[in-house]
Amino acid sequence: MRITVVGTGYVGLVSGACLADVGNDVLCLDVDPAKIQTLQQGGIPIHEPGLPELVRRNVEAGRLRFTTDVEAAARYGTVQFIAVGTPPDEDGSADLQYVLAAARNIGRYMDGYRVVVDKSTVPVGTADKVRATIAEELAARGAAIDYSVVSNPEFLKEGAAVEDFMRPDRIIIGADDERAIDCMRELYAPFQRNHARQLVMDVRSAELAKYAANAMLATRISFMNELANLAETLGADIEQVRQGIGSDPRIGWHFLYAGCGYGGSCFPKDVKALVRTGREHGHELGLLAAVEAINRRQKLRVVDKVVRRFGEDLRGRHFALWGLAFKPETDDMREAPSRVVLEELFARGATVAAYDPAASREARRIFGQETRLGCVERPMQAIEGADALIVLTEWKEFRSPDFERIRAQMRQPVVFDGRNIYEPAVMRRYGIEYFGIGRRCRAA
Ligand code: UDX
Repeated sequence: MRITVVGTGYVGLVSGACLADVGNDVLCLDVDPAKIQTLQQGGIPIHEPGLPELVRRNVEAGRLRFTTDVEAAARYGTVQFIAVGTPPDEDGSADLQYVLAAARNIGRYMDGYRVVVDKSTVPVGTADKVRATIAEELAARGAAIDYSVVSNPEFLKEGAAVEDFMRPDRIIIGADDERAIDCMRELYAPFQRNHARQLVMDVRSAELAKYAANAMLATRISFMNELANLAETLGADIEQVRQGIGSDPRIGWHFLYAGCGYGGSCFPKDVKALVRTGREHGHELGLLAAVEAINRRQKLRVVDKVVRRFGEDLRGRHFALWGLAFKPETDDMREAPSRVVLEELFARGATVAAYDPAASREARRIFGQETRLGCVERPMQAIEGADALIVLTEWKEFRSPDFERIRAQMRQPVVFDGRNIYEPAVMRRYGIEYFGIGRRCRAA
């Protein structure tokens, strides 16, 4: 099949490369010439395991190509994926200008039947707007060409996106006509393993399902974070509580980890957007508004603990920070807890030496002018002379550090663990003053 993917961001690039890998011919379009040039020269603008090999293999095979030519892209694929960004507006609603611009271009240049697929996370009702935009463009040039609009939300996790695309647990196809359904079924046939993974439903349900999935997962996290804070006061241990409930199959083990709050490009944006959609339609989604408020507060919990230990005035204090990315295996710092923590530490006069296996460059871009931040190349470099170590991302390499050395090289052996990767008892044994989230630690 011939496929066009509009937008070579994270979702577009992964989808394009995976679709090419099963034999389709894929043309990826982006308005950013620098990005397209990088891709044409074999560079990958994002950090995602497995993606560079996948892109290289399919570019070499001639199945995956990149362009900035809007007209050629609209004429190329029978299937046109829209995978552009939907950043939040100031009021929390998703900004659809890029999605609708993509639709406009498709309508302007398409020369035969097209299945236009919304892959970006978009508010319920967007498919109707995409349909209307294309209709407008066709009418403007007096063309009568048939097309379908489909909602096909992505459920890719950063750091596991290739695997998630290749081996999905479900493929949601929201479509209202048979021609589009048949086309999407054929397109995704290679990605079902031993049983059907395709769920065909109406467009609006597909659009809402995407928000429902992310909102549910975010709710679980905020629920555990709220209980973690209570556990601290009660002298209970949230890790024990987690184990006590996760073994119930109705609850399950996933997404029950208390910590310094969720970040990333999806959860914060989607929860806010869903609350906003509710409001627009006269529904106050109180539960999700609380999920969002709890998460905002949770990102400050680590700072609260630091302030309780060292005082409000942190001038002259120096902290080691491990983990800048919003989660391991990515260099993405969108809505990362580290951003809030760093800003709060700087505002109180502290200096920070930060280490992250992937996100240092991104941190330098974000905090470019901040002289209080130094990004270092090795975890142990950050530790030297620090008043405390703050861990904000659970990268594998942080799990078993040399605690003796940590204790010896720090000004004082204090660890604030925003991801509960260490055991309080072990830290006590090493003589390290330890503060986890919702754990029984030395008086926090
Ligand atoms: C998420 C969804 O999982 C994915 O299906 C969707 O398509 C996009 O959004 P992603 O943002 O890549 O994916 O990351 P995810 O692994 O879901 O983690 C999100 C955030 O929640 C991270 O900051 C993570 O640290 C945090 N988290 C996750 C917790 O705090 N506790 C948990 O138990 C799980």
